[in-house]
Amino acid sequence: MSVAACSSVAGLLKAPVRCSFPSSPSALLSVATARSSGKPGLTIFSSKAAVRHSDLERPRSVSSRAVRAMASSDTAATEAATKPFAVLFVCLGNICRSPAGEGVFRDVVKKRGLESKFNIDSAGTINYHEGNLADPRMRSAARTRGIEITSISRPIRPSDFKDFDLILAMDKQNREDILDAFDRWKARDSLPADAATKVKLMCSYCKRHKETEVPDPYYGGPQGFEKVLDLLEDACESLLDSIVSQNQHILGHGPSN
Ligand code: 4NP
Repeated sequence: MSVAACSSVAGLLKAPVRCSFPSSPSALLSVATARSSGKPGLTIFSSKAAVRHSDLERPRSVSSRAVRAMASSDTAATEAATKPFAVLFVCLGNICRSPAGEGVFRDVVKKRGLESKFNIDSAGTINYHEGNLADPRMRSAARTRGIEITSISRPIRPSDFKDFDLILAMDKQNREDILDAFDRWKARDSLPADAATKVKLMCSYCKRHKETEVPDPYYGGPQGFEKVLDLLEDACESLLDSIVSQNQHILGHGPSN
């Protein structure tokens, strides 16, 4: 067999063909006898071409790559249906409004028996209070309403844009700061391009209140902390309604149920 014949067969086959060249017709026959044992991967010589036995035997209808792709899309669908829905509340210092948002939302979720379906956290756009419990005024106002705030302050981080499905900003400045952070981090940390769409204003979920922002209570009196809780209780109820209506699997109503 010529080098040209061998390389043309190689061109027809996806897998590389291992070619060797017996010196005479009788040598070719003896190689064929010795090697045509039927074991996959051995080279079988014929008068026309040399092909790998494994290439002749491999079924061509469904490739192994297609099978792997189908299996991995099944796994992704199962993961999406069982992964807890992740909500991050964000304010400036993560010691007043966002820990309260986290506490109120946990309470609403618990009352509906959906704790296992959610991952709930909070963060700040600054790290000034990192490691601290929430402001005692905020914790005390919440406790009066039966809500325990236990979170520890931390700044927002790049992985939050991957780990959370919704990021709730307490005011417009917080939202701008979160989006600025995303713009700084997105290339370096390979963040999903659509992550900015996860950022929403908390008050956009309010039904009973007309305010568009949760005002910062830090430098004010006790009524400011009450106002924060009024707005958060209103927003968190309809936030949960909205998440559940858009993610039916949370109630166990998947497409196949
Ligand atoms: P938060 O309130 O953003 O609701 O946690 C604040 C907490 C601390 C400061 C400002 C606001 N601060 O200036 O330290």
